[in-house]
Amino acid sequence: MEQHNMNKVRMLEFAEHGDDRGHLVIVEGGIDIPFEIKRTFYIYGSKTDVVRGQHANKKTQFVLINVAGKSKVRVRDGEGNEAIYCLNRPHTGIYLPTMVWKDMYDFSEDSVLLVLASEHYDATEYIRDYGEFVRAIKGENENE
Ligand code: TYD
Repeated sequence: MEQHNMNKVRMLEFAEHGDDRGHLVIVEGGIDIPFEIKRTFYIYGSKTDVVRGQHANKKTQFVLINVAGKSKVRVRDGEGNEAIYCLNRPHTGIYLPTMVWKDMYDFSEDSVLLVLASEHYDATEYIRDYGEFVRAIKGENENE
């Protein structure tokens, strides 16, 4: 059986090359993260009570890194399982595979959330309705 989407979610630790000039973290596509990076964007200035994300992606894998400040991400598999991760270190990322539902929230005022994506932006591969996501997961399981 194919590995469960939720089990593919994992924290990634990037090497910190610190010296007395400060820290340097290197993230190379295909080396430090499990895909080639096609797109990057970053989120800042989100209020503490804001919930972002709220979608699943059919094609795109992501790595999220809070390069400054902190936030949380809740991941759901559409089958009743969920996990919450705290992103609060610039040298730590979270890998999110395709077809998991994600909510980003609890942004600190100074939060800068860097997102690396495996695909260019395509609005049609985003599932923004939770019911539709659950139905899509059910469909996937029936086809296994
Ligand atoms: P949205 O998906 O709501 O952001 P988030 O998941 O971080 O909460 O995106 C906000 C807007 O920006 C929406 O109109 C789509 C657009 N957008 C792009 O055009 N390209 C992108 O790579 C991303 C992430 C968003």
